[in-house]
Amino acid sequence: MGARAGPVGSRLAVVVTHALLAAALTLSSAPAATAAATSAAEARVDCARVKCLALTFDDGPGAQTPTLLKTLRKANAKATFFLVGKRVEELPKIARQTLAEGHAVGDHTYSHQSLRALLDEEISQEIRLGRDVIQQATGYRPTMFRPPYGHTDDRVLRIADEAGMSQIMWTGTTLDWSLRDARKITATVLKLARRDGVILMHDTVPATVKAMPGILKELKKQGYHLVTVPTLARGGGKALGAGVSYP
Ligand code: NI
Repeated sequence: MGARAGPVGSRLAVVVTHALLAAALTLSSAPAATAAATSAAEARVDCARVKCLALTFDDGPGAQTPTLLKTLRKANAKATFFLVGKRVEELPKIARQTLAEGHAVGDHTYSHQSLRALLDEEISQEIRLGRDVIQQATGYRPTMFRPPYGHTDDRVLRIADEAGMSQIMWTGTTLDWSLRDARKITATVLKLARRDGVILMHDTVPATVKAMPGILKELKKQGYHLVTVPTLARGGGKALGAGVSYP
């Protein structure tokens, strides 16, 4: 699983014990059936025919994530979560729950640094280690990557490509981390929402989680199907292969 990384990988091997790994594999097998069922339901949504929007949440898992998952479940909405490896090590159970509930999961690197400032080898390690930690915690190997702070360039994209990852950006960012106010966040999301859009938010911002029931209610009233990034891309006829940047 995480064997290919260099010195950072060795450190990880110490952190992620075999016991934790065994627990992850045991726990992730039970909700897998649920995940398959919900994913199958979403697989029937054709975004070429209906109005779709992809909500994405970065920087988790965090303490607020279970509340957000509950909100999404009640609204029968699917979302995409870009997880930070370090946080997954702290909260592996929440990462597993996110997948089990049928949401899509991507790699937001291991320690959330601005990749453009790093050497090639360091960028590669950040991407691969983030992915490996997610795989060790959940049994799922992500193929989508989102660069921290949106800081990317041709070099970062090439290294993501070499790691077998697509790069997922966005059409609208809420800046929820600076707004920190549920009403302002709601107004911003509704302003940014458009058919086939990808909205960037953070499940680590409590006001975002608080705003989400109202946001989902309004988006559904406007006829949006809330889907994962892969479902949205499929509707647009776009394959999210390695080295592809989307949207
Ligand atoms: Ni981030």
